[in-house]
Amino acid sequence: MYSTSQSQLDEQFAQDIKEGLGSKSQKRVEPKYFYDTEGSHLFEEICVQPEYYPWRIEADILRRYSKRMTCSQDSSEITIIELGSGSSTKTRILLGEVLSRQASLFYFPIDVSKAMLCETRNKLSADYRNLRTIGISSDYVDGVDQANRLISADDQIPEKKLIIFLGSSIGNLEPEESISFLKKLRSKMDENDNLLIGIDLRKDRKVLEAAYNDEKGITARFNLNLLTRINRELRGEFDLDSFVHRAFYNSFNERVEMHIVSTKDQQVYVGRLDQTFSFDENETIHTENSYKYSSEQIRQMAYESEFVIKGDFFDTKRWFNVVLFSPA
Ligand code: AVI
Repeated sequence: MYSTSQSQLDEQFAQDIKEGLGSKSQKRVEPKYFYDTEGSHLFEEICVQPEYYPWRIEADILRRYSKRMTCSQDSSEITIIELGSGSSTKTRILLGEVLSRQASLFYFPIDVSKAMLCETRNKLSADYRNLRTIGISSDYVDGVDQANRLISADDQIPEKKLIIFLGSSIGNLEPEESISFLKKLRSKMDENDNLLIGIDLRKDRKVLEAAYNDEKGITARFNLNLLTRINRELRGEFDLDSFVHRAFYNSFNERVEMHIVSTKDQQVYVGRLDQTFSFDENETIHTENSYKYSSEQIRQMAYESEFVIKGDFFDTKRWFNVVLFSPA
């Protein structure tokens, strides 16, 4: 496996928490920090909750259109790079489709969680004989660079890439960040490569809010696990009983917001930072935005990041969109 050094990642986490909790205005922690081993498993559990429609619906769309999503016009072989691969469960639909017409397939999953990458690679190699999985633990853009280097260095690996970014993870970026992120990806793609993105669409507030407030409380555990992580990795002293999960649809900004709410005035010491953070009653730590897009905005996003839409796939209710971008 290829990875960024653990000490660098630890230092970055400490710095980001110091800055985010020390903010004089809205306290925040970036959503990428949800995904320690426990957080990655909780996310897998969220995906199978009945209220969390994006996972199920995207899987249905992939099942229905996997051929068109993975087919290359010149029928040359492809290599798959996945951003934020997690357990790669849904990706199996695409891997299976490609392996039904290629003798072998090189698959580069990129994920922040090393533990998840190892677990996934072991499971995939047990289930697919002709799949070569090369995990990369890194942020996405560096991960694509690393995959590109490995592809160019080995003439066994097909050069034509399908980059996949599923699960509406693009919705966790700010809209302007998503354009600059797509532009960066675009600069790492050749003209025959494709990018397959899953994007959650706007819909009724009730449906959206239920998806982030599942009855079993898994999303709440996922959100609050951030405090457990700070306690463990940074010797924090958060009392998990004095904070609660909150998620709601912000219709002005067209996003679901997740926060951790302090239920009382309190002070929390974080040993590794040697710093105490004060919380007022009802003060929140903003932990995630999940933007919901319209088809028009998706077209605009493609245009601004210099892609054309080569394939556009929906479910029957038009709740979710899987889009195939190719360089303009
Ligand atoms: C990974 N990401 C697209 C999920 C989302 O829906 O924004 C993360 C998540 N947060 C709460 N539930 C799921």
